[in-house]
This record gives sequence, C-alpha cells and structure tokens, in this order.
Amino acid sequence: MIETNPVMLKTTDHTDKKLMRAFKGRTNGAPPLWFMRQAGRYLPEYREVRKRARDFLDLCYSPEMAIEVTLQPLRRFPLDAAILFADILLIPHALGQEVAFEEGRGPVLAPIRSLGEIENLRVDGIDERLEPVYETVAGVVEALPEGVAMIGFAGAPWTVATYMVEGGGSANHYHAKTWAYRNAGGFGRLIDILVDATSHYLVRQVEAGAEVLQIFDSWAGSLSAPWFQRLCIEPTREIVRRVKASHPGIMIIGFPRGAGPLYRDYVEQTGVDGIGVDYAIPAGWAAENLQDRALVQGNLDPVALVEGGENLFRDAGRILKSLSGGPHIFNLGHGILPDTPPGHVAELCDFVRHWRP
Ligand code: CP3
Repeated sequence: MIETNPVMLKTTDHTDKKLMRAFKGRTNGAPPLWFMRQAGRYLPEYREVRKRARDFLDLCYSPEMAIEVTLQPLRRFPLDAAILFADILLIPHALGQEVAFEEGRGPVLAPIRSLGEIENLRVDGIDERLEPVYETVAGVVEALPEGVAMIGFAGAPWTVATYMVEGGGSANHYHAKTWAYRNAGGFGRLIDILVDATSHYLVRQVEAGAEVLQIFDSWAGSLSAPWFQRLCIEPTREIVRRVKASHPGIMIIGFPRGAGPLYRDYVEQTGVDGIGVDYAIPAGWAAENLQDRALVQGNLDPVALVEGGENLFRDAGRILKSLSGGPHIFNLGHGILPDTPPGHVAELCDFVRHWRP
C-alpha cells in the first residue's frame, strides 16, 4: 500500500490552477480571465473601505484593508486570479521621494530633475516601507479561493521614472525624455536604481506567495524605437533576468502598453512568459506575431465594458476566437474604468467562461 503524506496533500499544486495551466499552452475550452484594476472605485464595497483609510497610500500600506479590497472582486466574479492591491508609485515613495494621491487630481510627486536628487534615493531602505505589501501578498494567498492564482506586480522603470521626473501624470513626458536625450548617463542612473529596487520588490512578492508577476509599462508607447529599446526592453530584460535567477519557475507578464509593432521585439528580447496587449493591437495580429513566443493576455477596450450590450459580446467573442489557437488569458487592454457597472463585469465573466472554440 502506498502511504500518502497528509502534508503533501495540503500543499497547493500551483500548476493545477487554470491560470498557470494556460502558460503551459493547455488551451482547451475557455481561457482563464482576470481584469486589470479589478479592485477599485467601480465597486461600492471598495469605496466603503477607501473611506476608512486616511488616504490612498494608507490603504496600500494597511494589510488588513489591502487584503480585503484585493479579495472583493473574487467574491462577486468567477475570476482566475487575484492581483495584489498596491500601486506602481509605492517604489518612488519607498525610495524616499514625496508621493501623494490628491482627490480628483491623481498622483503628485516632488519632481526629481538632477543627478544630485537621484543620489538621495535609497534602495537599501525600501523594505522599511514595503514590508506591509509583502504581508498583504501573504495574507491574500492564505485566503484565496481554491484554484485562484495570486498575481504580484510592479511598474516598469520607464513608466515609474516618468512620474518621478514629471511630478505626476503628463501628456508627453517632456522632462523625462529631454533628460534622457541630453544626458543618457544621468537618466540611466535613475533607471538603474529602479531596476535594482523593482527586482528586489518582485522577488520579495514571490517569496510572500505571488505565483505570477506583471510588469506595467503604461507609457512604453510614448518612446521612439531606439529609446524603446534602451528604456523599455533593456531594463525589463534585466528585471526578468534577476527575478528568474532567484525563482526560475515564476511566470512573468510584461505589459508595454502602446508598443505597436515593437511588441514583437519586446517579446523576443525581454524573456517574459506572457505579453499583455493593449486594445489598439488587432487580436489576430497578436496571434500571428506574438503567440508563438509567449502567452497573450488581453485585450478588450475597457470602454466596451462600461457600455455593455451587443458591442461588448461581439468584441469579446472576436478576441476569444482570434486567440484560441494558442495560450491566452482573457483581460482588458487597460484597466477597468471607474464608471463600469459591476453587472457588466459579471455578464462578461459569464460570457467568457461559457465560450467554446
Ligand atoms: O489592478 C488592480 O486591481 C490592482 C491595483 C492597482 C492600482 N494601480 C490601484 C489604484 C494597480 C495594478 C495599479 C497600477 C498603476 N498605478 C498603473 C499601471 C496601470 C495603468 O493603469 O496604466 C499606473 C500608471 C498607476 C499610477 C496611478 N495610480 C494613477 C495615475 C492613479 C490615479 C488615476 C486613478 O485611476 O485614480 C492611481 C491611483 C489608483 N491606483 C487607484 C487605484 C484603485 C485609485 C485611487 C483611489 O481609490 O482613490
């Protein structure tokens, strides 16, 4: 008789989760799904917790509240993954930059525009501020419904640098770009610091229980081709290399939003396992040009989800069909918008889960 070890039986088999199976290319039936920004203002229960927090950073750094809002969308919708509730701007904050989220204005940072200011950033000290985030990852993992995967994330160096240099969101990232163009070495020093901090932050998330990581490069599309190579592909490749050096089995999804035809170079050169595509990329193009090298994640227009109805199901159906020949995770092409009716999200989940090739 074979004796079973009760401890072994309890151990989660990560590879058996639908999201993890998708990376292995097992694509029978409907793909797994989750949504970028699936926790957030479109959910009344999120707004309730948000009121209890002093401000948005307090919410991100309070494990009890951050765990709760991470789990909220899973209670409503049959999603295949949870994504850590945090923000890409925790890294500049942890490095010592002043960061605030102002009501109705978005993030406001004390802009960094000189080498002297870069040298004040402290990579060594980041865990002092980020420890609660690792606690949130571990707490969510403990509470996850069976079969649901845990996604950790960080911003990519270029995108995070745009906020650090501009002092917030901006239309064309003028200050960040002119600094890079005029003094590639100086700006490169900032990128190097972000590579160090981000690699460490992601490794710590994996150690806390994250099974998949996503790297958000939301402003990749603002770079010309040579600068995309230097500021998006190269730093991302280095982060992937470092994280995989300590955790070879970890699955990493890159999301260089707006990269257009350069998506192909990104997939070939960064070493990511999955590629998040924005909604401007035809799903058929992604199937032909990316899916042979990586799992494709995406790419419904979030506005279609706000609107709902016939257009939503037609667009979702087209994406499902176009990407059904290879590994696919169904998602939006950018985050859920605050005006999204939660009922539309439930309908879309139902549609995707019952879809058959
Ligand atoms: O996806 C999730 O559910 C996890 C949580 C998450 C947040 N931000 C929470 C958040 C994730 C993955 C992010 C990533 C993020 N943050 C990105 C990359 C993705 C993208 O959207 O392009 C960027 C650029 C940021 C920076 C940021 N954070 C901005 C520009 C803003 C203000 C705009 C806005 O939507 O309010 C934030 C604030 C923010 N981050 C909110 C949430 C839920 C809203 C703040 C609030 O509740 O008051």
